[in-house]
Amino acid sequence: MKHLIPEFENLRRRFPAGFESSLVLPCLRRIQEDRGYVADDDVEQLTAYLGVPRIQIEEVLSFYTQFRRKPIGRWHLQMCHNVSCSMRGAETLLSYVERKLGVRPGETTADGRYTLSTAECLGSCGTAPMMMVNDTYHENLTAEKLDTLLEGLK
Ligand code: FES
Repeated sequence: MKHLIPEFENLRRRFPAGFESSLVLPCLRRIQEDRGYVADDDVEQLTAYLGVPRIQIEEVLSFYTQFRRKPIGRWHLQMCHNVSCSMRGAETLLSYVERKLGVRPGETTADGRYTLSTAECLGSCGTAPMMMVNDTYHENLTAEKLDTLLEGLK
């Protein structure tokens, strides 16, 4: 995390002194962008850097589901399985991906390429069923579209 300190200093200048807790979320987002997840060591260093209680950082990490605490695959597949997506076949598509990759939600393929997760509504109900791959939405999915999508992930 230390190499990110110059970026954090730029962020810090945008906030008045005494509002260090406001930096927790953007700093954690940047750490995860950089490393792929937030390690315990990152939490310790950020606690020391910001001078906020560790519990404030842990609360943010446990509240926002987008934060990961352990390494994941190169491609993070998050299949929405909330109401709209389920009504339009998300569970069938999820089973299809499970069979195709040989993993269940929460697992990573042995080659480290794919991590499969389920997600609650990702705000794209009008184009259900949908899946997020890293930061990109893939909508109106079908098994054929999934095949093409997975083949295109290098
Ligand atoms: S239910 Fe899937 S995006 Fe809303």
